[in-house]
Amino acid sequence: MKGIILAGGTGTRLHPATLAINKQLLPIYDKPMIYYPMSVLMLAGIHDILIIASPDYVDNYRRLFEDGSSLGIRVAYMVQPKPEGLPQAFTLGREFIGGDSVMLVLGDNLFFGANMTELLARASSRRRGATIFSYRVDDPSRYGVVDFDESGNAVGLEEKPLHPRSNQAVTGLYVFDGTVADRAASLRPSARGELEITDLIREYLLEGSLAVELMGRGFAWLDTGTHDSLLEAGEFVRTIQKRQGIQIACLEEIAYRQGFITADQARSRGRALAKTAYGQAILTALEQRARPRM
Ligand code: TTP
Repeated sequence: MKGIILAGGTGTRLHPATLAINKQLLPIYDKPMIYYPMSVLMLAGIHDILIIASPDYVDNYRRLFEDGSSLGIRVAYMVQPKPEGLPQAFTLGREFIGGDSVMLVLGDNLFFGANMTELLARASSRRRGATIFSYRVDDPSRYGVVDFDESGNAVGLEEKPLHPRSNQAVTGLYVFDGTVADRAASLRPSARGELEITDLIREYLLEGSLAVELMGRGFAWLDTGTHDSLLEAGEFVRTIQKRQGIQIACLEEIAYRQGFITADQARSRGRALAKTAYGQAILTALEQRARPRM
């Protein structure tokens, strides 16, 4: 399976903070925003990752991750000339995807919760169709909303409905099979002039090949597109990290635990960053190697 992080966009809701920097490079507490979606793809065991960014900032991402080898993965980069909709990830990324299945995560989405790895593994194991992840929210009208019949099967999907039929919002994490690039290429722009991922997902729903994974109470899904949500996400990360003495989205720690990098690679990164809790988390992962994870 391939992975794509869509990290373009204009971030207009975060102006003036994003006038001279791309949103996904802003910190959420102690690390760049893009580390959080990157951690999700790595937890899904994905080695091949494409970052799609706007022309002005793609080089910043390249500086951050280079070719990915320090994390034991391969990272490629592409430019999205204009933010014309999420499905462009698949038309731009067609060659990179190469007919495989693909996990897409939006660059400004943060996921955290118990059993994340199992949830991702279940979605990755489906050979055909698409999987979306839904999350109960208080204000569903702001999102794509999925609704279910009495047996819990998804039966409808609407983008930013005025009268939502459920509270289950579609999050910015999706898994699609190898047909997605062709399907994305035949989409037409919506009234707001963008290609809509809801239209793409609806195709799978109508064919009966859409799976919906509910992210339950134990999960946090935060998007970080406004000043308030950005600050709240930072506070969330700080609270959990301080209370539990763990790191959320420490990429080298994940790479080491997943077996993507060697102990020596992890140690040298940990030492280089040893002044921070982030670096210490890498060194702790090394110490815990022989012990069960607590
Ligand atoms: P949005 O929040 O819809 O857009 P934005 O990031 O430009 O912000 P604003 O609404 O404040 O102008 O985008 C959600 C995520 O998807 C975000 O990580 C940026 C990314 N994105 C792209 O990379 N390309 C696109 O064409 C679109 C629509 C979004």
